[in-house]
Amino acid sequence: MQRIPTLTVDFPSWARISPKRQEHVRRVAVLSMMWADEMGVSGEERDRWLKAVALHDALKSAPKEVLLELAPDSWGVDALRHGPAAAVKAELDGEEDRGVLDAVRYHSIGYADWEPVGQILYLADFLEPGRSFHSREHESLISQVTTDLEGVLRAVASERVTGTVALGKALLQETVEFWNSLVRTS
Ligand SMILES: [Fe+2]
Ligand SMILES: [Fe+2]
Repeated sequence: MQRIPTLTVDFPSWARISPKRQEHVRRVAVLSMMWADEMGVSGEERDRWLKAVALHDALKSAPKEVLLELAPDSWGVDALRHGPAAAVKAELDGEEDRGVLDAVRYHSIGYADWEPVGQILYLADFLEPGRSFHSREHESLISQVTTDLEGVLRAVASERVTGTVALGKALLQETVEFWNSLVRTS
């Protein structure tokens, strides 16, 4: 069995996240940091990417009442509440970096106005090799991120949008705007 490397992640003190989900987050961190190295981003930007990774699923195991109190709207979908709730909690905890907060808030659905920190989290969250749906195509996309970020964003967004449609679910406005922003620039 292939050994998947991990990385130390500083979860916030208020995190409610299972050990299994923590492993997912560590794999997301490994991918993000690999791309950061290959792209030669600054230390400050690396820290922002790592912070977004540590925050994005920090409330994945929080009780429903906690999530509802922090993020009552969340598009009316319980499964999507942990992102916005973590962004609200991080902001209450003093986080002021809008790019990091937007990365966390929209990590499950996409966002047209993301900075690279949001785009990288979106890709690493989906492409990390521990996902049950991980494929050879995903391996190939991982290797293309640093040379064709736009193309990989389109490929991942396409797969996710197609999956949502195939399940007969509605596309959220943010997801549609995200997708349109990707095809308009192509
Ligand atoms: Fe998540
Ligand atoms: Fe995640």
